[in-house]
Amino acid sequence: MEFPIVIGNWKMNLTPHESEIVAKKIVAGLPPQGVSAEVVLCPSFPSLEVVERVIAQSTISLGAQNFFWQESGSYTGEVSIKMLKEIGCGWSIIGHSERRIVLRENDDEINKKVKLALAYDIVPVICVGEKYEERQAGQKDFVIMKEVASALKGVDKFNRLVVAYEPVWVIGRGEAIDPEEAQSVATLIKYTLRDMYSHEVVDNKIKILYGGSVDDQNVSQFVDNELIQGVLVGGSSLKPETFLGIINKLTSKC
Ligand code: 13P
Repeated sequence: MEFPIVIGNWKMNLTPHESEIVAKKIVAGLPPQGVSAEVVLCPSFPSLEVVERVIAQSTISLGAQNFFWQESGSYTGEVSIKMLKEIGCGWSIIGHSERRIVLRENDDEINKKVKLALAYDIVPVICVGEKYEERQAGQKDFVIMKEVASALKGVDKFNRLVVAYEPVWVIGRGEAIDPEEAQSVATLIKYTLRDMYSHEVVDNKIKILYGGSVDDQNVSQFVDNELIQGVLVGGSSLKPETFLGIINKLTSKC
C-alpha cells in the first residue's frame, strides 16, 4: 500500500521564529526513522529556509504555497520556481481557492504554474473546489471538472502530481463535508483525469487529496487510500499536537 500524503498549509500565519518553533515540535513528535506517510510542510516564503533547516534531518518535505508563472524577470514582489527549488522545495500548492478568489488567479495562470512546477521537478498540488453559491446553483461538478481540465491543459509528461479537492465553503469552518460527498467528488476527479490520461497514469502518478476543516478527529473518515490518498490541512497544521494526531491516525491505518 502506498503511503498517504499529509500536507500542512500554514497560509499567511506564523513568523519565521514561530514557524521554527512549530516545525521543531512536529519533527520532535515523529519517530526519527520516519512514518508511513509522506509529510509536507508549506510555510510562507520568509519561513521556508528556517523550516528547511529544522526538517533537514527528518523525513518531512518542504513545500511552497505559491510562485509566479514566469521563470524570472521584472515582476516586483514575486517569487520564482527556481528560487524555491534552490532552497529545497520539492512541492508547491497551486491555485488555492484563496488565491483564485482574493488574488484573482485564473485558470490560465494556474496551468502555466503547473507546467513550470513539473519542469523543475516540483510536485504540483493543484487545488480545486466549488464555492457555496456554485454548489447551491448545481454547478459543483462542472466547476470541478473545468478546474481540473484547465489546470492540466497541455500537460502530458509528468512523474507525479496531486489534485486536492477543497470545497471553498468549508475551509476554516471547523466542520468538514460529509466524507461520502468527498469520495464522490474524488470519483468525479478520477473520471475527469481518465478522459485526459491512461488508467495507468491516473492510478500510478496522480494522487487525490481532500482539504477543508480536517482535524485529528475526522481525518480517518476521508482517507481510504484508494480514492482519497491524503489530506491538505490548514488550521490544524498550525497546532503540532493536532497535526501529529492526523499523521498518527493515518499511519495507524497502514
Ligand atoms: P482548513 O483546514 O483550515 O479548513 O484549511 C484548508 C485549506 O485551505 C488547506 O489548503
